[in-house]
Amino acid sequence: MKLVVAGVAALAMLTLSHAASAAPPDAITLMASTCVGCHGADGTSRGPATPTIAGMAPETFVEAMVSFKDGTRTATIMDRIAKGFTEEEIKQLADYYGKLPFGRAPQKTDPAMVAKGKDLHNEFCKKCHVDNGKKDEDGSNVLAGQWLPYLHMAMEDFTVHGRKTEKKMKAALEEVAKKDPGGFEALMQFYASQK
Ligand code: HEC
Ligand code: HEC
Repeated sequence: MKLVVAGVAALAMLTLSHAASAAPPDAITLMASTCVGCHGADGTSRGPATPTIAGMAPETFVEAMVSFKDGTRTATIMDRIAKGFTEEEIKQLADYYGKLPFGRAPQKTDPAMVAKGKDLHNEFCKKCHVDNGKKDEDGSNVLAGQWLPYLHMAMEDFTVHGRKTEKKMKAALEEVAKKDPGGFEALMQFYASQK
């Protein structure tokens, strides 16, 4: 009888220590699990209409989420999602994704378009979208290696849907439209082609 009791006690101890070692997922993993379905497990998007969010500068990330939340940035889905998070939680998510490497999407581009886009980029965009759009500097976002369909959507947010941006960026877009209306396709192909 004594032996059985001791056995049960040992089992209870085992169960207890097992429960203690399986720590609950931390708050950030839990929050980020909401994003995985669209932005990928590591912030690198697998779907063409969703941007990669790994490697964004934390300030750009916070700015994006806050403007989705208050409706100042046009969105198809992020306006609803961003409303579920406090500014403190958004900052934590920004730090988390900012530390992950940006994975460039493997996609086909047209070399003639890419060459034309490169010229337009050098003329109108490179001051802010530095290093061929690879670097998120001063809130400019990473453009290099984003999915082409997403880049087109983002462009149309400015040119068609009235997404706000700084004056100089707006001016650059107007210059391109004036010079060559087909220029946006070329520019987006150029960014998409970056490895
Ligand atoms: C149902 C799919 C979906 C889910 C879930 C989702 N996103 Fe998004 N996300 C998008 C799409 C699509 C966009 C482009 C803007 C839009 O159309 O809403 C976007 C844009 C963004 C951007 C702006 C990126 C840029 O380059 O400007 C950030 C930041 C972002 N999402 C963060 C998150 C975070 C953090 C979560 C989880 C809490 C999340 N998203 C969950 C689909 C999703
Ligand atoms: C004066 C600086 C500046 C110039 C010049 C500029 N941009 Fe931008 N761009 C920005 C900033 C800043 C953002 C982030 C959006 C915002 O908050 O204004 C941005 C965002 C974008 C986005 C959306 C990225 C995303 O994921 O949301 C695209 C696409 C883009 N720019 C393309 C271009 C192209 C193409 C040119 C040249 C014709 C250009 N930009 C010139 C500063 C600039």
